Amino acid sequence: MGGARDAGWVAAGLVLGAGACYCIYWLTRGPRPRRRRLRPSRSAEDLTNGSYDEVLNAEQLEKLLYLLESTDDPIIVEKALVTLGNNAAFSTNQAIIRELGGIPIVGNKINSLNHSIKEKALNALNNLSVNVENQVKIKVYVQPVCEDVFADPLNSAVQLAGLRLLTNMTVTNDYQHLLSSYITGLLHLLLTGNGSTKVQVLKLLLNLSENPAMTEGLLSAQVDASFLSLYDGQITSEILLRALTLFQNLNNCLRVKGCLAAQPPFAKGSLFSLLYGEDCAQKMRALAYHHDADVKEKALAIMPKF
Ligand SMILES: *[C@@H]1O[C@H](CO)[C@@H](O)[C@H](O)[C@H]1NC(C)=O
Ligand SMILES: *[C@@H]1O[C@H](CO)[C@@H](O)[C@H](O)[C@H]1NC(C)=O
Ligand SMILES: *[C@@H]1O[C@H](CO)[C@@H](O)[C@H](O)[C@H]1NC(C)=O
Ligand SMILES: *[C@@H]1O[C@H](CO)[C@@H](O)[C@H](O)[C@H]1NC(C)=O
Ligand SMILES: *[C@@H]1O[C@H](CO)[C@@H](O)[C@H](O)[C@H]1NC(C)=O
Ligand SMILES: *[C@@H]1O[C@H](CO)[C@@H](O)[C@H](O)[C@H]1NC(C)=O
Repeated sequence: MGGARDAGWVAAGLVLGAGACYCIYWLTRGPRPRRRRLRPSRSAEDLTNGSYDEVLNAEQLEKLLYLLESTDDPIIVEKALVTLGNNAAFSTNQAIIRELGGIPIVGNKINSLNHSIKEKALNALNNLSVNVENQVKIKVYVQPVCEDVFADPLNSAVQLAGLRLLTNMTVTNDYQHLLSSYITGLLHLLLTGNGSTKVQVLKLLLNLSENPAMTEGLLSAQVDASFLSLYDGQITSEILLRALTLFQNLNNCLRVKGCLAAQPPFAKGSLFSLLYGEDCAQKMRALAYHHDADVKEKALAIMPKF
């Protein structure tokens, strides 16, 4: 961020309490600094009725980033992060925010002890991550976010936001290796989380499973035998289909890498030993009679591997 700053604006940005709402209002809707006029009676309404979410220009984004950097007021920080996140849904703004040095400013907020702020920062980063150049800057947060996801309360909004960011950062193969040491933890989260968490972890694991460079890490990970319950016939298809696709992807990668017999010995208790064991074969045979045609098809595609 550069350029001369309006001293009056900076002062306004630092005013807490009632001034806080006005500040965001003014940033997003108000006239230019030199001509600004206080209209606090409208500002609070504007904040709560959502009209502060409109698309900002580069100058307004710069001010918003400066505000985010300079205030400690959690209400302002949260509103600023939401506004930035919404603006980051537009590709031109994704580039502008990066060029203004905004990614580390948003990224620092994932260290907030306030889960509500942390979640909004993760959401904003997630929207910013839909841009390859931004991903280069966001990659430094991948491992800290992994650590956080395991420490967060199970199934919390902040945990889900972290998982979504990790999923978006694994859409390409470029940063997947950063997750190598967290696979066992992710598999554990897959088994302990509720439906929403399971689906999000599966999306992430599915991305990893398409990359032959990740196959060995996935198959050698230690996992509880309850993993196989993901292949029970009564599991919701949203989860069952993804769990089957995970298996299919791993099969395909093994085929690319050579035959099953040429694999390094995978330890007892590894994902490999579960997937290619007799219990799993039995589950696949049962799923070949499943009422959902897609489930049936995937189970049949996997079966000849036994
Ligand atoms: C929000 O409130 C302001 C001030 O009352 C009003 O001018 C504006 O139209 C409202 N916006 C929406 C989206 O309701
Ligand atoms: C966390 O931030 C929210 C949103 O700004 C705020 O309402 C809440 O009071 C903060 N919590 C703590 C413990 O500071
Ligand atoms: C992120 O982008 C989506 C659209 O891609 C938008 O619906 C959402 O409100 C944006 N904001 C946040 C904070 O995630
Ligand atoms: C990445 O995250 C954004 C915002 O949450 C979402 O709209 C988008 O679909 C995601 N992209 C991919 C490829 O998953
Ligand atoms: C998972 O838990 C979260 C937090 O309690 C809840 O909001 C969400 O609806 C749950 N999802 C499912 C599918 O049960
Ligand atoms: C990762 O998953 C998303 C959807 O969740 C998908 O669009 C993308 O193609 C996947 N990428 C890879 C490398 O598997």
